[in-house]
Amino acid sequence: MKHLKNRNAILTGASRGLGVHIAEALAKEGVNMVLAARSAGKLEKVCEDVRSFGVRAVSIPTDLTDPGQLEALVEKSEEKLGPIDILINNAGVEYSTPFEQFEPEKIRKTVELNLTAPMLLTRSVLPGMLERGSGHIVNMSSLAGKTGFPCETPYAAVKSGLVKFTYSLRVELAGKSVGVSVICPGFVAGDGMYARMEKESGPAPKMLIPTTTEKVADSVIKAIKKGSAERIVNRLPMRPVLILQEMFPGIIPYLHRALGTPEYGRKISERGI
Ligand SMILES: NC(=O)c1ccc[n+]([C@@H]2O[C@H](COP(=O)([O-])OP(=O)(O)OC[C@H]3O[C@@H](n4cnc5c(N)ncnc54)[C@H](OP(=O)(O)O)[C@@H]3O)[C@@H](O)[C@H]2O)c1
Repeated sequence: MKHLKNRNAILTGASRGLGVHIAEALAKEGVNMVLAARSAGKLEKVCEDVRSFGVRAVSIPTDLTDPGQLEALVEKSEEKLGPIDILINNAGVEYSTPFEQFEPEKIRKTVELNLTAPMLLTRSVLPGMLERGSGHIVNMSSLAGKTGFPCETPYAAVKSGLVKFTYSLRVELAGKSVGVSVICPGFVAGDGMYARMEKESGPAPKMLIPTTTEKVADSVIKAIKKGSAERIVNRLPMRPVLILQEMFPGIIPYLHRALGTPEYGRKISERGI
């Protein structure tokens, strides 16, 4: 989708963190948008901010783990803006706990918000996109979904699910003028879940160099414009690590030890979140 001006988007997870930066990047491209998350007040504030770029922005407070609210989101969005051209599945939650101590409810919530909700929202917008012969879906995964992350095992599992959901859908949609992309940031400094984690538990290991909110937002825009399959936002040292682990999965624990993730995983799990 080369031209984004006057397109209509739904962006989930838009009340704080990376969603706010993605909303601003979309607004700069002239995209009208529905912003969804649970916090009505914060969403409305983001709407006001992006309207200053001259786009239409509407907030629809939605708990994406509630099937009724999720189902209503696309319908309400189309009532407010018209046909949806772009869906950005950005809302997510992460919990850090050694797996044998994970509360079952937190495992369920991780799956519902990070994987079930993106699939159901995609299912809702896709028929219209196919009918119009145009559309793009962006799934916000993580490097955890490419290589795993100790003490965030359910999060890594669902983020990996989003990667394979994207790959499979791309095969189904080949030649149909509807694009699907997955974005895989590593740690992101400045705002969002890692920034909060850093305040509480200290910085990530030196090897895991954080990226910026601007680079993540820019990756989303580039993915839509170029029809990218996947965008790995934090490149070094992760690209060679990903190639190596694909060839020799047995070395993953050694690679992670070299990166310092087991120690950091334990540290962040001590926050009790
Ligand atoms: N920040 C990072 O370092 C990083 C790295 C890799 C990938 N990511 C991914 O990037 C995405 C955004 O992360 P972030 O750092 O911006 O996280 P964040 O600051 O925790 O924001 C999460 C967003 O999801 C929304 N949300 C949470 N539960 C929801 C629910 N039940 N229904 C609807 N919305 C809900 C939150 O809004 P409400 O609380 O108002 O509902 C908020 O807008 C996530 O998918 C995350 O996994 C982040």
